[in-house]
Amino acid sequence: MAQQLDQLFNEDRAHFMHPSTHAHDHASGALPGKIIRGAKGIRIEDHEGKSYIDAFAGLYCVNIGYGRTEVADAIFEQAKKLAYYHTYAGHSTDTIIELSSRIIDWAPAGMKKVYYGMSGSDANETQIKIVWYYNNVLGRPNKKKIISRERGYHGSGIVTGSLTGLPSFHQHFDLPIDRVKHTVCPHWYRQAPAGMNETQFVAYCVEELEKLIAHEGADTIAAFIGEPVMGTGGIIAPPEGYWAAIQQVLKKHDILLISDEVVCGFGRLGSKMGAQHYGMQPDLITVAKGLTSAYAPLSGVIVGERVWDVIDKGSQEHGAMGHGWTYSGHPICAAAAIANLDILERENLTQNAADVGAYLGAQLHAAFDQHPLVGEVRNAGMLAALEFMADKPGRQPFDAALKVGPKVSAAALLRGVIARAMPHGDILGFALPLVTTQEDVDEIVGIVRAAVDEIATQTIA
Ligand SMILES: Cc1ncc(COP(=O)(O)O)c(C=O)c1O
Repeated sequence: MAQQLDQLFNEDRAHFMHPSTHAHDHASGALPGKIIRGAKGIRIEDHEGKSYIDAFAGLYCVNIGYGRTEVADAIFEQAKKLAYYHTYAGHSTDTIIELSSRIIDWAPAGMKKVYYGMSGSDANETQIKIVWYYNNVLGRPNKKKIISRERGYHGSGIVTGSLTGLPSFHQHFDLPIDRVKHTVCPHWYRQAPAGMNETQFVAYCVEELEKLIAHEGADTIAAFIGEPVMGTGGIIAPPEGYWAAIQQVLKKHDILLISDEVVCGFGRLGSKMGAQHYGMQPDLITVAKGLTSAYAPLSGVIVGERVWDVIDKGSQEHGAMGHGWTYSGHPICAAAAIANLDILERENLTQNAADVGAYLGAQLHAAFDQHPLVGEVRNAGMLAALEFMADKPGRQPFDAALKVGPKVSAAALLRGVIARAMPHGDILGFALPLVTTQEDVDEIVGIVRAAVDEIATQTIA
């Protein structure tokens, strides 16, 4: 048994190139591997039979929890009936037709059509192509730049890696491309100049955006892309009034708004989507992860009426749009999505996210507001984060080399909770499955408190 496991790990190191993984440490064995063997509800089990609470829902995606046989059955039935047919040139399947209407029901008013992909990254690549096409059809060939935000996350392709505002996604890849510009991350706690309150910080974000637009020229800027609540950049909910103020600027300069709801969509914030949660009126919406709860890979670009009308006009002038994926609208993934949406709706999981998410926030504040290691406790629905600071009153971060965030994450893991050390700063992130209960939250917060205490005694002299 132990020999078989050794063999498996050797093969893993020899032949599998893992995403976002230190290549040498993995290949040499310095990075201890983990083989996940099974999962049920909010818990996963590894190769040693050890069970963990997955307080990050995989990668913010297993919203209905693991092991839902209803979704497995839907996939099986669809695979037997029709595993695949393409959707080019007007071909459809019953499943994808039903799913498209269901998605429009989840989306805010004014959304018209859904284009499908397999990942958040490819969906955002489609978004940018649509935006460029839109301005070409409208006879504005220079209006092509996209504004994203520092610490935003939108994928790791060529354009989407450029949109992502994290240095490690740019360095050594010659990114970002010229057409992508970044503006201020709306994180008051870390980004606001000293002495500014949250209202003044919103005005500052608007001013910085206006400056960038003036510098580049409004007639060169096509779209602004943002996550309603930032995920990978550190789980950052915007300050009150942020989205209303940003949208005013975009409207004034005729700049499209893309709401990247890959994390926030389908109930995670306690609202159907982030757009409804913050009263946003996006022109385009990106969805993935929670659309199938990761039971199958599926993403969508939801196109609003204003953009759709131009696509319609474009086809009359230039013929069919030259953009398509072989697996666009894959019936097996669509069947998984429908079964997932059935569960989300039947079990009222959006409301559960609102209720248990509020409880999670309250419990984290109670446990950590006064903790010497914790500078900020953040929470929005089933997303939350703790940010660790070397000097709490002075808001001074730790030296990154101390790896305080990763150490807390590792200490929590040893105690049986998976919470993610976020890549930018000493931040421990939570993205609970939407089926999580208050009792689960009590267990998670208790374990994380013990982990934070342990690292605090090592770190604070
Ligand atoms: C907001 C957001 N957009 C896009 C993506 C990219 O999705 P994928 O990893 O499926 O390409 C992610 C992934 O975490 C994300 O969080």
